[in-house]
Amino acid sequence: MSANSAYEVVVLDNLSVGQQRPSFPRGVRFTCGDFTDRATMTECLQGVDTVVHLAALSGVIASVEDPRPSFEVNVAGSFHLLELARAADVRRVINASTGGALLGEAASPISEEMAPCPLSPYGASKLAVEGYCSAFAGAYGLSCVTLRFSNIYGPRSAHKKSVVAAFIKSIIREEPLVVYGDGTQQRDYLYVGDLVRGIEAALKRELTGVYQLGCGQPTSLRTLVATLKKVSGRDIRVHCEARRSGEVHSTWCNIAKAASEFGYNAPTDLEAGLQTTWNWYLENREIWVRRQAWSASD
Ligand SMILES: NC(=O)c1ccc[n+]([C@@H]2O[C@H](COP(=O)([O-])OP(=O)(O)OC[C@H]3O[C@@H](n4cnc5c(N)ncnc54)[C@H](O)[C@@H]3O)[C@@H](O)[C@H]2O)c1
Repeated sequence: MSANSAYEVVVLDNLSVGQQRPSFPRGVRFTCGDFTDRATMTECLQGVDTVVHLAALSGVIASVEDPRPSFEVNVAGSFHLLELARAADVRRVINASTGGALLGEAASPISEEMAPCPLSPYGASKLAVEGYCSAFAGAYGLSCVTLRFSNIYGPRSAHKKSVVAAFIKSIIREEPLVVYGDGTQQRDYLYVGDLVRGIEAALKRELTGVYQLGCGQPTSLRTLVATLKKVSGRDIRVHCEARRSGEVHSTWCNIAKAASEFGYNAPTDLEAGLQTTWNWYLENREIWVRRQAWSASD
């Protein structure tokens, strides 16, 4: 949501990842707390019209190592959130979900009509929440829309283990980039600014159901590395390791439904988005290099 928009914004986050003292635009009310805590959530939902539900345990590999936390936080926590939102007369909920992790090894471009087949507990947890959103819409009239994000990258992502963040940190530290597999795997990389504009566009319409938000183009890991080499101007070494279980090989998405129903598009091309991201990491090196408190998530 843009800083100068007409919304009154309440942010709830337990700061389990990211900056310990985040700054917000003027007028934003911030509560440091857990969304799975009923009292905190009840308090935060007072007078709220729309919930944009982004909080989650978002690590795919962490969920493979231990599937329980993603169930307890993402599934049980989101279920309680929907219950409390209903009790507080919240009008609508925008639920952040995932395309790749939820659909598994489906033929790309993936779209909203495809049958989900998650390969990781994280993907399964996001599918379960989509189910509850659909049920709360059907049974109780709570207006729920699910937005399935592709691979998001951009500034302020230094706590992430996802590929763009990991590669940029490695390049700056002059370490080799670790590629799992042969580098032919493809992803749909979406610049965070385009995602935020997409969420805001969805917020303004009375939508229900599921929408895929991505850039709508496949990019191989090899192309990502070549583009990072170009924007950074640095020499890059690559170290290949075996493919990891739970990760799909290739996924990118069809964004036609979101484009036609709420004018969604993703105008930032990969090189421009990576340049902005690279510049942020260079300019904010002192924030992320020494901050051991920044725990990691995918
Ligand atoms: N980043 C991506 O590429 C991507 C792709 C698909 C879907 N998503 C989804 O988008 C949403 C946001 O992802 P992200 O990449 O920004 O993740 P992230 O891990 O960077 O951020 C998640 C936020 O939730 C907060 N949080 C976690 N548990 C909490 C709790 N119990 N109570 C309160 N706050 C809590 C964390 O502190 C963090 O600020 C998630 O739902 C994720 O599943 C992200």
